[in-house]
Amino acid sequence: MAQLPNSLEARDTAFQLHSYANARRQEETGALVIEKGEGIYVEDISGKRYIEGMAGLWSVAVGFGEKRLVDAATRQMEKLPYYHTFTYKTHGPSIELAEKLIEMAPVPMSKVYFTNSGSEANDTAIKLIWYRSNALGQPDRKKIISRVRGYHGVTIASASLTGLPNNHKSFDLPLPQVLHTTCPHYRTMKRDGESEADFARRCAVDLEDLILAEGPETIAAFFAEPVMGAGGVVVPPDGYWQAVQPVLKKYGILFVADEVICGFGRTGNMFGTQTYGLEPDMMTLSKALSSSYQPISALLINDAVYQTIADESDRIGVLGHGYTGSGHPVAAAVALENLKIIEERDLVGHVRNVAPVFQKRLAELGENPLVIETRGVGLIGAAELSHDALAQTPGALGARANAAFQEKGLISRAMLDAMAFCPPLIITENQINELFDIAEAGLKTVSDSLK
Ligand SMILES: Cc1ncc(COP(=O)(O)O)c(C=O)c1O
Repeated sequence: MAQLPNSLEARDTAFQLHSYANARRQEETGALVIEKGEGIYVEDISGKRYIEGMAGLWSVAVGFGEKRLVDAATRQMEKLPYYHTFTYKTHGPSIELAEKLIEMAPVPMSKVYFTNSGSEANDTAIKLIWYRSNALGQPDRKKIISRVRGYHGVTIASASLTGLPNNHKSFDLPLPQVLHTTCPHYRTMKRDGESEADFARRCAVDLEDLILAEGPETIAAFFAEPVMGAGGVVVPPDGYWQAVQPVLKKYGILFVADEVICGFGRTGNMFGTQTYGLEPDMMTLSKALSSSYQPISALLINDAVYQTIADESDRIGVLGHGYTGSGHPVAAAVALENLKIIEERDLVGHVRNVAPVFQKRLAELGENPLVIETRGVGLIGAAELSHDALAQTPGALGARANAAFQEKGLISRAMLDAMAFCPPLIITENQINELFDIAEAGLKTVSDSLK
């Protein structure tokens, strides 16, 4: 991409350090400047239109250009653009949203703590878990288990939970209290001759072995996404959750379900917790909570956890935690309106209706010889490419496919060589076909170029 002097691309390169980019490569190539969006589409500054096949960052559930969210933000801006929830103050939007989330929660929850990003929600969860362990007189119960390839964010504690090397390298992470157990990806993690059912059970055995090796009395919590997202869309094998959860219960380990991607319809139920029969003690939510029109996230805690934390704050005199933007009134008002849209338009029912087409077209991508596996549930999925085809470093082929998709008008995301698809929940059957027609053509371009 040529960067004309003083163009937006050149100024971007001059002044902005970007996330998940190679800064030196970015200096040469610049970034794609997106200007506007409507429905499932976005448009760049040259007027080229793309299907946003990732809903931004797995998040724009109701699509771009939703006027009701703009109006909700405007109304709240005019009335009370900012207030906080510290020191015995509060405001209407945060109250209404907290009540709504407790009402919607798939398992009994007692309180909502608002934060501004998925990372902060998970970070706050860890802090409250440690606070609780101290309150219970169990100061040694501080270790947290998450999974290899899990993604939970990038703040110091959340990045430690994340089980991906690039979130740790040169950041001096993970923190020593965080341990990672087996990723439930059958194809790459199975042992010779191990059936999928045996593998699911063995994941639970691996977890229990880790707990026993570390000392069960030192393990405070287990964090997991119902379906792994940024680790490459890893859908757990049947029986996985049914095997893992009893292990947590056996040793009194809290279960935190990170619903940051799965929450609000993605897997065909309102929460991934319902899709997989989970019984978490805490849940973290973000992304589709406001369709990312405003940064907001939430941590839900059950009553047993709340009671201990409340007692500890009483003993100390204050819960010494809080963000200036916690429960921000504009973000909360937008989230409330967004949830209203999700419910009024029955987007969860819509996901169930269109998911079979999405999953069928995804599976058909597997017919391209470059694809070694497709996996997905609801409106989330990935097609994994074989990097052997290029005999190059993992990720090289994914980058080529990404470029081919983009050139043809589809934004996807390559997680190494796994091409992810996670479109806005409003996508229609015709648009799903449009998305996969482009993906098929893009993959064909890549496979032809290797001949
Ligand atoms: C499952 C999950 N948890 C947490 C996060 C972190 O959220 P944020 O980027 O808002 O900090 C993400 C982000 O992609 C996520 O997918």
